[in-house]
Amino acid sequence: MAGYDDLLEQLAQYNAAGFLPMHMPGHKRTALGGGELPWQLDITEIDGFDNLHEAEGILKDGMELAARLYGSARAFYLVNGSSGGILAAMAAAAPFGSRILMARGCHKSVYHAVELLHLEPYYLTPPVDPSFAVTASLPPKMVESALAQHPDIRLVVLTSPTYEGVISDIAAIAAVCHRQGVPLLVDEAHGAHLYFHPSFSGGAVTAGADLVIQSVHKTLPSLTQTALAHVQGNLVDPQQLAHFLSVFQTSSPSYLLMGSIHRCLKLLEHRGPALFADYVQNLQRLDRRLESLRHLRVLCHGADHCSRHTDFFAFDPGKLFISTHGTDLTGPQLTALLRQRGIEPEMTAPHWVLAMTSCCDTAETLERFAAVLLELDGLCHSTGAPYVRPTPPLPPVRHTIAQARQLPTVPLPLTEAIGRTMAESLWMYPPGIPLVVPGEILTADIVQVLGGIADSGVQLHSDSGLAPHGVLVAATG
Ligand SMILES: Cc1ncc(COP(=O)(O)O)c(C=O)c1O
Repeated sequence: MAGYDDLLEQLAQYNAAGFLPMHMPGHKRTALGGGELPWQLDITEIDGFDNLHEAEGILKDGMELAARLYGSARAFYLVNGSSGGILAAMAAAAPFGSRILMARGCHKSVYHAVELLHLEPYYLTPPVDPSFAVTASLPPKMVESALAQHPDIRLVVLTSPTYEGVISDIAAIAAVCHRQGVPLLVDEAHGAHLYFHPSFSGGAVTAGADLVIQSVHKTLPSLTQTALAHVQGNLVDPQQLAHFLSVFQTSSPSYLLMGSIHRCLKLLEHRGPALFADYVQNLQRLDRRLESLRHLRVLCHGADHCSRHTDFFAFDPGKLFISTHGTDLTGPQLTALLRQRGIEPEMTAPHWVLAMTSCCDTAETLERFAAVLLELDGLCHSTGAPYVRPTPPLPPVRHTIAQARQLPTVPLPLTEAIGRTMAESLWMYPPGIPLVVPGEILTADIVQVLGGIADSGVQLHSDSGLAPHGVLVAATG
C-alpha cells in the first residue's frame, strides 16, 4: 500500500479493504472490548487515575482482577508487550552475570536480557516433531539432567506455548526446577487465552511457574503492546519485579492501553465462559471442514490429531499451522494465494504458514478461511517429497553476547563469514527467534540454513540490516 503520507489514513484504508485478519492482535479489529478508544481518553497520571508504578486505585484493582482471573499471587499490567515483561522478569530472577538454562527457541527479548544482564546461557534444544518438522515440547527430563549437570544455574526460561502452538509440561518442569530451588520463567506470550475453557489447557500459571509473561494483545481482545506479568511462589521477590518493570517500561504508560487490558479482563470475567464456548464450537466446525484437505495439512486440526504427536505435551487449538511439505506449494506461494483472496496470515516460513484465531473470530470468519484453504488445496498437488528440517548443531561459542557486542566489527558477505565470530543476531520476523547470536561462530551448516530461508523468499533480519547477503562479524576472530 504505497502512496500514503498519513499512517492513520493508510490504516483506515486498509481496514476498509476488508482483508480477513488471521493474525494478531486478538481483537481482530472488532469492537468487542468496547468501541470508544479515541484521543479524548488519552491522559497522563491525573488525580484519580492512579499510577502504574505505584498503583493504589483503579489500576491496582485491575491488576488484582488479573491475578484472580489467572490464579496468580500478583499480576502487573505491561504496556511494552511481553518483551518488556521478559526483560524485567529475567532481571528480577537472574543475578547479574549468572548462568541460566534456556530453550534455544526463545524470543529475542530473552536474548536481549541475556545481553543486558551479562548472563551465560546453557541452551536446551527440544526434539523436532517428524511429521510437521515443528519444535516439540521441552521434555522435563532434559531440564532435570541439565540442572544436575550445571548446579550453578540460577534461572530456567522457556516458551510455552511456542509460536506454533506447542505446549510443554510446565507442572513437571516446575517441579524439577523447584527441587533445585531454581525459579522457572515461562514466556507465555502466546498463551493468555489458555485459562477459560477445558479445550484450552496447559497454562503456566496454573501449572506453578514462578514467573509467567503473557501478551494479552496476541490472543485476546486487547490493544497491541498490552501484556501481563504474573509472579507466584517464594523464589522471586515481587518487589524486585516491580522495580525492574519500572526500569524497562515507560514512566508515562498509556491509559488507553491500560484501559484496554482492564476491559479485556472484565470481559473475560463476565463473558469469558460464553465467549470461549462459542469459540470452541467454531473451531470444531472448522476442524470438520479441514478434514477434507487432501494435500495441505494443518497441525492438530482436520485429519491430523494431537495424539499422533507423541512429543507434544499439549497443543493450542487456536493456532493453525499449515504445512506445505509434500506439495508443489511453498509457504510464500501459499501466503500470496491467501492474500489474493483477501486473507492475511500471521507468518510465512519456507514450508509453512501460520494463521491465528481468537475468540473474536466467528463461525463466518472461520468458514471464510476454511473455504479459501480448501479451494487452494484443490489447486495444489502432492509431490510426495519428504521434508526433513535441517537441524544444524548449536554453533560453538567464543564470547558471551554482552562481550561480543563490545568488539569492533566488520561487515562480510555471508559465505565469507564462515568460521568468524558473529557480532549480531539473525532472525525471521515473526517470530523473532534468533538463528545465530553474537559471540557464536558462524558455521557452514548455519549458512546453508540461512541461504535456504532467503532462497525461499522469506525475509531474514539482522541488527545491521545487511542480511541476507552480509553479516557483521567481530573484526578479529
Ligand atoms: C514467543 C514470544 N515471546 C515474546 C514475544 C514478545 O511479545 P510482545 O510482542 O508482546 O513484546 C513474542 C512476539 O512475537 C513471541 O512470539
